[in-house]
Amino acid sequence: MRYLVCLVIGLMAGALLASTAAAILGKRDPYPRALMSVMQHELKLARDATANRCEGIAKPLDLLATLTEDIEVAMPHGEEVDRVFRQYVGDLRSTLATARAAAGDCARQTQALTDVGNACSACHRDYR
Ligand code: HEC
Repeated sequence: MRYLVCLVIGLMAGALLASTAAAILGKRDPYPRALMSVMQHELKLARDATANRCEGIAKPLDLLATLTEDIEVAMPHGEEVDRVFRQYVGDLRSTLATARAAAGDCARQTQALTDVGNACSACHRDYR
């Protein structure tokens, strides 16, 4: 009987610990993904603006540039950012500046947005 009680207590303690561990593991920092989702949204607005007579691209691009400033804060969760990651952030920043300078020039604007999308993908290939 005593063994049975010990067994039941052991099983209950094990189940409790397992569910606590699952809860902790499931609670990843939501900020990096939230930041990326908003960036995705702004890039879409910029693309839509380009498709729509190439007007209204300045606002989403300015927002994207501001959000890009936060990537290194959000991403490595407080750890040291490595050189390659920083390079990708820099590449995104410069493609955004080029796109911003092209605002109003439809052909250049379209090309510049493709470069921005490629800068996103380059980092994702290595870090996502
Ligand atoms: C310097 C690196 C870097 C750059 C540049 C970058 N990303 Fe990301 N992105 C990441 C990483 C790392 C993740 C995975 C984050 C995670 O799951 O915690 C990610 C994830 C995402 C996701 C998925 C979010 C989710 O809900 O899981 C989207 C969408 C996204 N990025 C969009 C973009 C867009 C749009 C750009 C360019 C305007 C961009 N990213 C530029 C590193 C980058």
